[in-house]
Amino acid sequence: MLRTLASLPAIAAIALALPALADDAELRATAKDFFETIPLNPPELNGNVMTRARVDLGAMLFFDPRLSRSNVFSCNSCHNVGMGGVDALETSIGHGWQKGPRNSPTVFNSVFNIAQFWDGRAADLAEQA
Ligand code: HEC
Repeated sequence: MLRTLASLPAIAAIALALPALADDAELRATAKDFFETIPLNPPELNGNVMTRARVDLGAMLFFDPRLSRSNVFSCNSCHNVGMGGVDALETSIGHGWQKGPRNSPTVFNSVFNIAQFWDGRAADLAEQA
């Protein structure tokens, strides 16, 4: 009896979660109509061939605060690769500790985006940069 009573909260939790699971499955099925598996290799941008040296240079620049006027911020400040490519702030903090109007989208896999920025105002990463 004690055992049955103890498992009641667990049973109730499962029962409550069932409609959510059905919703999740439906959402996943709908999403599959819009999204494809991410390709293994990124597309080549404007004939910009990817080489080991270029990848290494990009990584160095991404983490280099000397790219900012104050020498304080790097790309990683707002697109922290340890936090999924974001800063997890409501809006990003920039030069002079100013707060912008938008938060930072993840840069992970952004080469595959159909457009860049929240409003899609750049067609690709070359234009975004
Ligand atoms: C001060 C914070 C900040 C720094 C530093 C910063 N970004 Fe961003 N980044 C943002 C914000 C905010 C947006 C979204 C702006 C918008 O949509 O108008 C953005 C957008 C982007 C996007 C578009 C991604 C998408 O999904 O649309 C890319 C790519 C990007 N940044 C790369 C970089 C790179 C590379 C650097 C360094 C050279 C950099 N960012 C430095 C805040 C920052």
